[in-house]
Amino acid sequence: MSSADLLREQVRERYAVAARAASTGGCGCTDSGGCCGNVACDGEDGGFGETLYSVDQLTRVPRTATLASLGCGNPTAVADLNEGEVVLDLGSGGGIDVILSAKRVGSTGTAYGLDMTDEMLELARRNAQEAGVTNAHFLKGVIEEIPLPAASVDVVISNCVINLSVDKAAVLTEMARVLKPGGRVGVSDIVAEDRLTPAERAERGSYVGCIAGALSRGEYLAGLVEAGFDDVSVEFTHEVADGMHGAILKAVRR
Ligand SMILES: C[S@@+](CC[C@H](N)C(=O)[O-])C[C@H]1O[C@@H](n2cnc3c(N)ncnc32)[C@H](O)[C@@H]1O
Repeated sequence: MSSADLLREQVRERYAVAARAASTGGCGCTDSGGCCGNVACDGEDGGFGETLYSVDQLTRVPRTATLASLGCGNPTAVADLNEGEVVLDLGSGGGIDVILSAKRVGSTGTAYGLDMTDEMLELARRNAQEAGVTNAHFLKGVIEEIPLPAASVDVVISNCVINLSVDKAAVLTEMARVLKPGGRVGVSDIVAEDRLTPAERAERGSYVGCIAGALSRGEYLAGLVEAGFDDVSVEFTHEVADGMHGAILKAVRR
């Protein structure tokens, strides 16, 4: 196995444990640095904090979806979703953002969740059923090779996942491929200040914990432009470690 494959396997195992725990109402991320932020594990700021779901949003998703919420922001608040649109969530986990998106785009729209971890997919499908949404579909696969046709998606969202990818350039290229021209990106992720080297990022936290693999702001902006996006922006929202931030990324497909 290559080192990239090994790293991806570590990520998969980590989030399988988290999914199994959330399925039974527990928290799979109690060890510090074990995985990305969790809004519900300890009842308050369990991880990267400031996971900005409104009370209204949280009442519209099953408890097991909020327990499995491991994001670092709220991409459904960033991406201005409209009735009838097709939304794709990269690394959909327990399905919270897919369920909220499915409700937002309504019966004429579709929300896809893509994840590589079977346990997360099972949990997400159960959560969507419990939430009563029929326009949410969960696909198994990796975000570096999205199993959807070119120009088939209006909006790509993602919540604390791209930093976990072993090939970020491939993810950005795939996002551009599946988006229709003019399609939008609204992503939450952990992003480093440009002053931090990859080694300094790794000193601040683990890879599976969404710190060591984070891109810098400049790397993200350049990568998005290179992949075919205009109007790119990366806005820091809250610091999670020295020089590392929860951030909102926006871009428009050329
Ligand atoms: C930190 S969790 C975030 C889950 C969800 N977005 C949320 O906000 O709760 C990361 C998720 O991304 C998935 N994942 C990580 N790397 C992936 C990859 N390369 N391809 C597909 N899924 C991936 C994991 O299985 C896990 O469910």
